[in-house]
Amino acid sequence: MRHIKTLEWDGDALKMVDQTQLPSQLVYEKIDTCEGVYDAIRQLKVRGAPAIGDAAAFGLYLGVMRYPDDGSVEELLLQVEKTAEYLAASRPTAVNLFWALDRMRAHAKKVAGRGGAREIKKALLAEAQAIREEDVRTCRLIGENGFPVLEPFGRILTHCNAGGLATAEYGTALAPIYVGIERGKKFEVYADETRPLLQGSRITAFELRQADIPVTVLCDNTAAWAMAKGLIDAVIVGADRIAANGDAANKIGTYGVALAAHAHKIPFYVAAPISTFDFELETGSAIPIEERAGAEVTHGFGRQTAPDGVAVYNPAFDVTPAKLIRAIITEKGVVEAPDSAKVKALAK
Ligand code: MRU
Repeated sequence: MRHIKTLEWDGDALKMVDQTQLPSQLVYEKIDTCEGVYDAIRQLKVRGAPAIGDAAAFGLYLGVMRYPDDGSVEELLLQVEKTAEYLAASRPTAVNLFWALDRMRAHAKKVAGRGGAREIKKALLAEAQAIREEDVRTCRLIGENGFPVLEPFGRILTHCNAGGLATAEYGTALAPIYVGIERGKKFEVYADETRPLLQGSRITAFELRQADIPVTVLCDNTAAWAMAKGLIDAVIVGADRIAANGDAANKIGTYGVALAAHAHKIPFYVAAPISTFDFELETGSAIPIEERAGAEVTHGFGRQTAPDGVAVYNPAFDVTPAKLIRAIITEKGVVEAPDSAKVKALAK
């Protein structure tokens, strides 16, 4: 199966798909500054929790790439810290961003004990590449673990994009579907459009079409009705941050989908890597929820759709309580009926 490479290191720059141009154009952009990476994350040129983490890791390296090879190690470590803090301010909800930046800073400190500026920079690029490669392997494992869970079903609803384009490759929620298709299973995907930025219709439908997997796009407000009409067998979504009790933050609208699935006795699954868990937050109520510009709602895609001066409430994420989640699928295995004890066991 042909998978699009969301982002990769290319010589002296980060090469990534500009996802704001999808589905009309598959355009790659090369970014060689940490400011460029910050803007790409902020503007959702790169988006989806694991992909944001990958991009931030390369962004951190770009922030020190031009530091002199024979410069002071203390100064370089200071620059690492400043760049990490700067990139951490790009978006607040996806915890993979902070996870990747913490891992990069820790690596810089570790290498500083045994090498100079040149060695630290080299090690930072290698660590960013390792984070990206691990993301690919992790998603593949999520696919392997998740396929037996989805195998009894045929028609799967998903919300937003938790496919290959939300990660380095394969995706989280779509990974079990890709693995199943490889093994001859027939899946049909229903992709919620996902207001206001349409990641479902622009990105999920795009990548499923590229992979030749049947996909039907529906408006977000159609999902409950599609369930009532018996069109949906199971729901699978990704996550941007999962609290220690299994409450899961994902794209705004996910909570409503989970409630509708519960009402129709349709299983609702979350697929995410361990790097998306925030074991320090006891419950989902502590997850910071990004609020984005009202213009995304009132002036989406070049057309005014609400009167001037109207107030807008535009949270980018919501939190689905663990009790609505049938299972969380991770690279370490499947956690059925997630609760604090089972989720905390994943941390070990
Ligand atoms: O705002 P985005 O596009 O970065 O949000 C991404 C999501 O919420 C996705 O649904 C996804 O599940 C999380 S990343 C695999």
